[in-house]
Amino acid sequence: MINTDSTLHIEKVTSTRVGEVDFDNLVFGKTFTDHMFECEYKNGAWQRPTIKPYGPMLVYPGMKVFHYGQAVFEGMKAYKDENDDVFLFRPEQNLERINKSSKRMAIPEFPKEIFLEALNELVRLDKDWIQKGDGNSLYIRPFAIATEVGVSASPSKEYKFMILLSPVQAYYKGFVKVLIAEKYSRSADGGVGAAKAAGNYGAQFYPTSLAQEKGFQQIIWTDSNEHKYLEEAGTMNVFFRINDTLITAPTSDRILDGITRKSILDLAKHNGVNVDVRKLTVSELIAAAEDGSLKEIFGAGTAAVVSFISHFGFKDKIYELKEQSDSFAVMFKKQLNDIQYNISEDPFGWRKKV
Ligand code: COI
Repeated sequence: MINTDSTLHIEKVTSTRVGEVDFDNLVFGKTFTDHMFECEYKNGAWQRPTIKPYGPMLVYPGMKVFHYGQAVFEGMKAYKDENDDVFLFRPEQNLERINKSSKRMAIPEFPKEIFLEALNELVRLDKDWIQKGDGNSLYIRPFAIATEVGVSASPSKEYKFMILLSPVQAYYKGFVKVLIAEKYSRSADGGVGAAKAAGNYGAQFYPTSLAQEKGFQQIIWTDSNEHKYLEEAGTMNVFFRINDTLITAPTSDRILDGITRKSILDLAKHNGVNVDVRKLTVSELIAAAEDGSLKEIFGAGTAAVVSFISHFGFKDKIYELKEQSDSFAVMFKKQLNDIQYNISEDPFGWRKKV
């Protein structure tokens, strides 16, 4: 439900901080732009949507988000082309997904019209924070948190839906080394793995830190029942190329329905690449690595874009992947970038001018 006053209210900053930013040395997600969006939910309705200066907000220690992790988020990006025009990539998909995540976490869904208007207005206001050129973009972080004060274990009756903007460069610089999960799990059948629920990410920090001690950046999660099937990497979905077939796990209630993932599947079909969306076992992967039919592994996500995986570890062995002269990952990354940065035609209608 939307309250009667759904007109977007805008409070602009009096002076911008953009001149203070070292855009060549950004740490992913650490710098925020001048403005942010906020909309409160109370009395069973979303209240007045507001864009205001980025800054601290009032929280109480008793808010449910701190006790029960009732929180969801999204990751999306805006890109600037050579003419200073700005584009969003498939923004409706993110709104649809945050609303699915919200439903799973008993958070009220956010209205589409308000989301799209606020998002476009916010990005337009902070357009000067977007750098041009390959790898540069504005990372957009919509999120919703439970703000009702009270520690009874029940859904909050009050929420905040917010959008923050952060100028970024590539999430992973260079090649990524991944470890295949044998012990810990990211998600379970019937759980919240398909939702972008905040706790899904926090729960990965400890096992990922153990993998990082061994020299890996990320874990490729396997199914929680048998650790037999390869699923996703937490910050990105994963693709495998065996001979000339592109394989990725089917989405399920354990795997995030990645927007970059589905865009790559569409690009693959468009390029006539043989695609197999199926469960791939760890033993099949090891066999393919050993007989040389495993050509590539890459991750796909909003932050990660297309990230090349150079090594994977399983038990005590490390497998190295050789660079391919006809790499699928290179091809998809270029085609995706060219659409996002308005360099090529967009036959899919993914690009939305702000
Ligand atoms: C994204 O790609 O937007 C993600 O949500 C990954 C993030 C945890 C960095």
